[in-house]
Amino acid sequence: MVSSPKMDTVFGSLCRTLLIICLVFYFAFIYLSNQYPNCPASDFFSPFLKRAPLLASDTTDETETVGSPTNLSHLVFGLVGSEKAWHHRKAYIESWWRPNVTRGLLFLDNPPTPGLLPWSPASPSYRISDDLTKFLNKTDVTPQRIIHAIMEVYREDHENMRWLVMGDDDSILFLDNIVDVLAQYDHTKYYYFGGHSEFILSNYWFSFSQGFGGAGFILSYPLAKALAADMENCLRRYRHLNAADLTTMACIADIGVSLTALKGIHQIDLRGDISGFLSSHPKFPLLSLHHFDMVAPIFPSKDRAESTRHLMKAAAVDQSRMLQQTICYHRQSNWSFSISWGYSAHIYERIMPRSYLQYPIETFKTWGRSPRPPHYMFNTRSPSSDPCEAPHIFFYESINKTAENEILTSFARAWPRGLPACSSTGNHSADSVSRIQVYSPARKRFQMDRSECCDVVGVNESQADVRLRECAADEIIA
Ligand SMILES: *[C@@H]1O[C@H](CO)[C@@H](O)[C@H](O)[C@H]1NC(C)=O
Ligand SMILES: *[C@@H]1O[C@H](CO)[C@@H](O)[C@H](O)[C@H]1NC(C)=O
Ligand SMILES: *[C@@H]1O[C@H](CO)[C@@H](O)[C@H](O)[C@H]1NC(C)=O
Ligand SMILES: *[C@@H]1O[C@H](CO)[C@@H](O)[C@H](O)[C@H]1NC(C)=O
Ligand SMILES: *[C@@H]1O[C@H](CO)[C@@H](O)[C@H](O)[C@H]1NC(C)=O
Ligand SMILES: *[C@@H]1O[C@H](CO)[C@@H](O)[C@H](O)[C@H]1NC(C)=O
Ligand SMILES: *[C@@H]1O[C@H](CO)[C@@H](O)[C@H](O)[C@H]1NC(C)=O
Repeated sequence: MVSSPKMDTVFGSLCRTLLIICLVFYFAFIYLSNQYPNCPASDFFSPFLKRAPLLASDTTDETETVGSPTNLSHLVFGLVGSEKAWHHRKAYIESWWRPNVTRGLLFLDNPPTPGLLPWSPASPSYRISDDLTKFLNKTDVTPQRIIHAIMEVYREDHENMRWLVMGDDDSILFLDNIVDVLAQYDHTKYYYFGGHSEFILSNYWFSFSQGFGGAGFILSYPLAKALAADMENCLRRYRHLNAADLTTMACIADIGVSLTALKGIHQIDLRGDISGFLSSHPKFPLLSLHHFDMVAPIFPSKDRAESTRHLMKAAAVDQSRMLQQTICYHRQSNWSFSISWGYSAHIYERIMPRSYLQYPIETFKTWGRSPRPPHYMFNTRSPSSDPCEAPHIFFYESINKTAENEILTSFARAWPRGLPACSSTGNHSADSVSRIQVYSPARKRFQMDRSECCDVVGVNESQADVRLRECAADEIIA
């Protein structure tokens, strides 16, 4: 289109007017946002900033893809293990590692012995950690070896990397959830994600400010880059520290970055039967589990490796709901149902509020000696032999897609409860129920701001059927 000079001036003044109006609105908005912090300017503008990082100090090597959604190809994994433990721990990593899809490396202290050769194609590729004994002039460099792996994996593979995920050789990661959570953050900013220990004293002894490494911690690209660049100096600065996770935190703190704890990252500094913990998971996508060697197998009559693979079968169908706790009631019998998706289901013979059922039953023991409470970073319920308090316990057995395009998860009774019925609520015993079938939509949940609701859609002598759904806008779970 050819435009006349007159048109140009008209357009020119129109543009100027528009520009002025826009600027006025912009400053008014910034001003009001600061007045009303619930409506922050950054949230409003971040979609635009993300696409065109106007203020980013140093546009990264991947400017062209900065606005595309984060997917698994943008994550690089660094796992640190020992040759000795890998023989049995590889089952944990292979339960979630996706050969030829997940990027990353395993770092071993010593070359693999013949039992591990030829190297399993289901395992990550391995490298032998750099020898740091001369550099640090000491013989035991285990903590520094673990930290140095951050630099070693960065050195080898960081093209188009957005997030560096570090873990141990027994960290069990839930990749789809990790991707979905990270996709909500701007990878061009500095982030250090991790998890606290469940055991209060571990946080006190090491640090409340550190991410516990076995649970996995996650560094955004610019942080990983800065940390890799400072690695040798930092190891020298903190040569006296002998805890890897603490030193990592110290190095990151010196870059000016602090921990953001994510409630789905689990160090599992617990011992014994952790089923109570896994049955009342916080309202956050499950990102990791750890220490499966240290706790009892999580499913009855399955060993540790079998338990891990069994859990992963449910995770393969729907990670978004994994361990998410959903609660509903069967009024005719005064029962409460608490479902931990893909893991367990409980029936209580009394109506219990969600505010109470969200506390794990303390089936587990403390990680270390802890003379007096509080022991844990969360409230617990004590195990009880009161029939009005003790649940009937069911564990995940099988998962199938139904003809109606729903997911059907079957939970089988673990053992007879061995208690009389709860008399104060009408003597409605659930003893005969041997199976709970849970139907859930065959699509993942994106909205994690609220739990799902459920309905008990059928109960007979032997079986209870429960259907999950979104809660109504004003629905109260009580
Ligand atoms: C991941 O995102 C990149 C763009 O950043 C794209 O090229 C690639 O195809 C995506 N991969 C998958 C598996 O979606
Ligand atoms: C991974 O890729 C290699 C070659 O690129 C192929 O030989 C191997 O079969 C692939 N493995 C899997 C599990 O897909
Ligand atoms: C290494 O440490 C030893 C004692 O542990 C000391 O005698 C030696 O001087 C140190 N070497 C260097 C290069 O610092
Ligand atoms: C689900 O599938 C398994 C096989 O994978 C089968 O054994 C089981 O009976 C099925 N369960 C239901 C409830 O259909
Ligand atoms: C449920 O329990 C309450 C006491 O908590 C009792 O009053 C009521 O009758 C019970 N309902 C049934 C159907 O048993
Ligand atoms: C429940 O059963 C016990 C003994 O079997 C009885 O004493 C009690 O009254 C019953 N409670 C109700 C509400 O029926
Ligand atoms: C209970 O219901 C299920 C299906 O909903 C059925 O397969 C089963 O036979 C029923 N059991 C009894 C004892 O009625």
